[in-house]
Amino acid sequence: MTDIITLDDVSVVFESDGRSVEAVSHASVHIEEGEIFGIIGFSGAGKSTLVRTINLLERPTSGRVVIDGRDVTALRGTALRKLRSGIGFVFQSFNLIDNVTVAQNIAFALKAAHVPKSRHRARIEELLRLVGLEEKIDSYPSQLSGGQRQRVSIARALANHPRILLCDEATSALDPETTEGILALLKRVNAELGVTIVFITHQFDVAKAIFDHVAVMEHGVIVEQGTTFDVFGSPHHETTRALVERYLGVAIPRRLVPQLPSGRLIELRYKDEGALEPLISDVSRHFEVSINVLHGNVGYFGTQAIGTLIVLVSARQEGQRGAFVVQAAIDELTSRVADARELSVALNDDIGASIDAIFADDAYGTRPSAHAADAYDGDAHKEVLA
Ligand SMILES: Nc1ncnc2c1ncn2[C@@H]1O[C@H](COP(=O)(O)OP(=O)(O)O)[C@@H](O)[C@H]1O
Ligand SMILES: [Mg+2]
Repeated sequence: MTDIITLDDVSVVFESDGRSVEAVSHASVHIEEGEIFGIIGFSGAGKSTLVRTINLLERPTSGRVVIDGRDVTALRGTALRKLRSGIGFVFQSFNLIDNVTVAQNIAFALKAAHVPKSRHRARIEELLRLVGLEEKIDSYPSQLSGGQRQRVSIARALANHPRILLCDEATSALDPETTEGILALLKRVNAELGVTIVFITHQFDVAKAIFDHVAVMEHGVIVEQGTTFDVFGSPHHETTRALVERYLGVAIPRRLVPQLPSGRLIELRYKDEGALEPLISDVSRHFEVSINVLHGNVGYFGTQAIGTLIVLVSARQEGQRGAFVVQAAIDELTSRVADARELSVALNDDIGASIDAIFADDAYGTRPSAHAADAYDGDAHKEVLA
């Protein structure tokens, strides 16, 4: 696959009030033609600044922006305008002009690209058909719902047949159902028109629904990138873990903890659906340990599943031999899943301390403390598997 966009060691430094802020720090990404590439991160991570370097709305302080193999970092004037006309932009806030109709909003984009006026109406009708809003051609933005406004803004962004579409939090102002519709539309634009999409979001659900590749950003730095399935299935950086944990995270109902046998709590993350049940019975038979499945959760990434299980591994015999066998069983489990980690120290005599360990922030790595409570409440309805 060939890169349509390469950001090569891009940094963006803002000077304000005599202080300098490095909004993007040495970011490098390779975006393939025809893919949906996503950048995810918490607010303030530098996502918007990074995506705006692609059409030079933000000029890198250092590094290079390469489009179709051509270094465009220093483009100005007509050449820059030409580059921008081949790159559509969709914003969270729609950016439509309120006092003109849907047709006129789209016409602005056509005018900017010097499309003869005689061709406007047909092209506008075609675009509105694509986004499913033919009947709103003479409506005003104020007469449309949020989802419909975003469809108009997508139609406008596609007016001049761009090969690249940049979407900055394009669904963040929409409710979940409307978001689904917009994501489906963007997937269609990507698949049917072959438009490469770069999509910025802080929403994990959006990322896992449509991204082919993802870059995770924090404090201006891309901390991890790869296929969405790999990055979210085996997160390495704590920010990625925190994002994944919010979505896939499981918590053990507190009332269960005192009834647990002693043992070690392990969180297993696996990528192949169904591959885990044989693994668990296999390991418990082979190692003479008991493995209790305390909680499970499966998330879907397109058609691929990533599952999380929390298991308690207990010895069937006392003493050092028991501890040794438990360790061997955990090693075996860990080596056969995508990702694994221990959640707390042994749950034996000191139940009180163990409960704290399970629910403490560091038991879940970087899960913010407010969220530990959310996850607990949110998961209260979930079935305990064993
Ligand atoms: N024009 C600007 N001048 C000064 N600082 C800015 C400017 N734009 C963004 N920043 C700062 O850069 C950082 C990254 O911002 P932004 O790219 O908007 O992050 P995100 O889109 O991930 O929320 C923030 O600290 C923000 O305050
Ligand atoms: Mg932003």
